[in-house]
Formats: sequence, structure tokens, C-alpha cells
Amino acid sequence: MASHPSPSRTAPAIRAEQIVKLSSGDATGQQAPILRGCSLDLSGGGLTAVVGPSGAGKTSLLYCLSGLDRPDQGTVSINGTDLYSLGDEKRTRYLRRTVSFVFQQYNLIGYLTVEENVRLPHALAKQRVEPAAVEEILSQFGLHDKRAARVSTLSGGEQQRAALCRAILMRPSVIFADEPTGALDTANTGIVLRVLRDLATQNCSVVMVTHDVESAALADRIVFMRDGMIVHVTGRLGVDEILHTTARLGGK
Ligand SMILES: Nc1ncnc2c1ncn2[C@@H]1O[C@H](COP(=O)(O)OP(=O)(O)OP(=O)(O)O)[C@@H](O)[C@H]1O
Ligand SMILES: [Mg+2]
Repeated sequence: MASHPSPSRTAPAIRAEQIVKLSSGDATGQQAPILRGCSLDLSGGGLTAVVGPSGAGKTSLLYCLSGLDRPDQGTVSINGTDLYSLGDEKRTRYLRRTVSFVFQQYNLIGYLTVEENVRLPHALAKQRVEPAAVEEILSQFGLHDKRAARVSTLSGGEQQRAALCRAILMRPSVIFADEPTGALDTANTGIVLRVLRDLATQNCSVVMVTHDVESAALADRIVFMRDGMIVHVTGRLGVDEILHTTARLGGK
């Protein structure tokens, strides 16, 4: 009998329709727009880079896309599931199974060890994790020797790598990473980008904010942001083309 290939997982589509996000309000209660009607279709998965000047709204966009922060207007769906029409509990359960987030400020727990931090999402989801998988990921990111160290004693780059280990160990189908190489040296930047690229070719959708043109040049798709808006979306570009496009769009 002919053997059939096992069905491959397909990367989930992430779609946003006209997201508006307002600031929480100043002393006079005035709310300013942070995201001004962002629409995006990230079907087909792969590695997406989000680029733009500081304050453009990159982190705010990632929070809305990942279910962490409800937009004031508009919709976000992952694989057809409309995130914000789910109740809080259902959304949390759905996201825990589907999405990992690597925060710009890492969001590790300082008094826990590296290994405890990396295992935390599994503990919260009451899921078992193979000790060999923990070993492997810590070694991959050069943290094996630091596994028993409290996170508060680590360097910034070590904390960033621990945050990546924590996100990847859950084997999510979507990873949002907010400047995942911001604190890393060249060698560790290379390791992290290779891992994110590999995941993106294994039917995981990876969305990464970066200020680094060479990292953006590894992406399959680039989203350019300015002043709370998505002003341009392209396929893969080389370093020079990214610099040209950035200059054409104005600003750094
Ligand atoms: N809760 C909030 N209340 C008021 N303003 C906010 C709030 N959150 C974000 N902002 C503002 O919205 C803008 C976009 O912020 P965001 O953190 O998304 O930018 P960013 O593109 O990620 O910048 P960076 O590259 O510096 O990380 C900034 O001007 C920021 O001060
Ligand atoms: Mg940011």
C-alpha cells in the first residue's frame, strides 16, 4: 500500500484589521493614539521583522497581535480564532497552547533560577517537560553552566537568552519576539537568529521586532512602522534595500 506523508502542521495565519490603540490617558484624561488603524496579514508564516524608529508603536503592535493587550478598535485573529471575542479565560488557555512572547525587558523572575524560569510556562500549564529537552535548549543557548544561577545574578545578554529558551521550550506555533538580540554580542545574535529562522521554516510563525538591519535582512517579510502606522510591508530585502526603503519612508 502506498504510504502517505504525515500531514504537516501549517503555520498559523495572524491577521489584524484596523487596530486602534489609545494611551491610558494623561493627568487630564486625554488619550493619545498609539496605533492608528493597523492592518496586517501574516498568512503563510515564516519570519517577519517589524522595524521602525523608537516610539513608532512596534511593541504596542506586538502586544495587540499576541493577545496581551486588547486594542480599543479592530480585530486580531490567529488561525481564524478572533482573540478578543474570546472571554479572558478562554483566550488565556488558547494563547498558552499557541503563542510564546519574548519581552523587550525579558520579564524573567529574578529570584528563580534559570532552569526554573525556563520550566515555568510548562508548570503553569501543568504540562510535563522532558529533562532532555531542557538540557538541550540550555546548551543550545550557552546557558548550561548557568542553569542553577538565580536570574537576578545574570548579565543582560544571559537573561535575554534565558527568555528565548523559556519561549521556545513550549514549542509554540507562533513566537513574538521584541528585540530578541538587543542585548547580545555578535556570536549570540547569530545563534538566536539561526534558531528563529529554523523555527520559521518548521511551520512556526515568528514575528520579531528589530533595530538591526542585518537581522531584518534575514526575514521573509518586513513590516515598516512610523507614528503608530504600518506604512509599508515587503518580502525579503537585502541590507541596502532596507536602508533605502527606510530613508524613502523618512526617519531612521
Ligand atoms: N500605556 C501607555 N500610555 C501612554 N503612552 C504609551 C503607552 N504605551 C505606549 N505609549 C507610547 O506609545 C508610543 C509607542 O510605544 P511603543 O513601546 O509601542 O514603541 P516602540 O516602537 O516599541 O519603541 P522602542 O523601539 O523604543 O521600543 C510611545 O510614544 C510610547 O510612549
Ligand atoms: Mg519597543
